[in-house]
Amino acid sequence: MQTPAIAVSGLRKTFGTHPVLNDVTFEVAPGEIFALLGPNGAGKTTLINILSTLVAPDAGTATVNGFDVGRDPLAVRRSIGLTGQSAAVDEVLTGSENLRMMGRLFGLSRSASAARADELLERFDLVQAARKRAKTYSGGMRRRLDLAISLIVAPSVLFLDEPTTGLDPRSRQELWNVIRSLKEDGRTVFLTTQYLEEADQLADTVAVLNEGHVVASGTPAALKATVGGDVVEVRDRAGNLLLQLPTDGSIHGLRAAIAEVDASGVDGDVTVREPSLDDVFLALTDAGAGHAAPELIGRTAR
Ligand SMILES: Nc1ncnc2c1ncn2[C@@H]1O[C@H](COP(=O)(O)OP(=O)(O)OP(=O)(O)O)[C@@H](O)[C@H]1O
Ligand SMILES: [Mg+2]
Repeated sequence: MQTPAIAVSGLRKTFGTHPVLNDVTFEVAPGEIFALLGPNGAGKTTLINILSTLVAPDAGTATVNGFDVGRDPLAVRRSIGLTGQSAAVDEVLTGSENLRMMGRLFGLSRSASAARADELLERFDLVQAARKRAKTYSGGMRRRLDLAISLIVAPSVLFLDEPTTGLDPRSRQELWNVIRSLKEDGRTVFLTTQYLEEADQLADTVAVLNEGHVVASGTPAALKATVGGDVVEVRDRAGNLLLQLPTDGSIHGLRAAIAEVDASGVDGDVTVREPSLDDVFLALTDAGAGHAAPELIGRTAR
């Protein structure tokens, strides 16, 4: 078997008395897009910090490209690119200057830095903005520049911490395309997200992190299958959700759900849809307890 791009086993990290990661184990295959999904405070950034050698774990092992993060941090750093929640962009510099400066910091010659900067500006659709200061950039442009900066030295594993948080739908779509193109280049992409749709759209494998554990992992399709079959929904004319019933996917289950809709006395348009990652998320995490609307009846965890 080929070496996993990332392998994490029995990882633990406690801050003070608060255990953030409590026996986390998973593997990421080379060339895949892996999405770590979890609510605020789940430990996603902590995990990225450990994998990028910025924070030491209390116990367990983690390797990137086969290099141990504790024993061989330099080799790990050489194989990764990191785009954090707090961007690495220098506001005062132009997009082009940001990229050329980073190239110089990574030891490229002046002309090689300039050539690489031009290549990345072209690729991330920033040519028009290349000579403008980064502080004038929109949120989407800034994220693209940040991603470009992390690609200066063409790392084989990329960590993207909530790459599209706060972006409008169009900028999010653009960034998704960029992330897909990174996979096409053969890179491994490890991203964190709170958006189920993002994981669904992009990821080959999704892992759900909650209360320090990976509570579920698999392909988006497999995860959706864990919550069962189709979901019966009733909406009013304005499209507001009135009632939602998960089924086991069988005809019998569907009939029972429809009978339940009948008995509930709720009146509206009935549709049957496939389960979404939202359903998985609600079933597997605390978010279910906090955010499930009262009309979500009959939900079963796995
Ligand atoms: N250096 C630190 N010292 C103390 N506590 C910390 C430290 N770093 C993180 N934590 C705590 O660990 C928990 C997990 O934080 P982390 O930033 O990893 O979560 P996250 O999943 O990235 O959340 P978000 O979605 O908000 O970015 C939080 O309760 C946080 O307060
Ligand atoms: Mg975070």
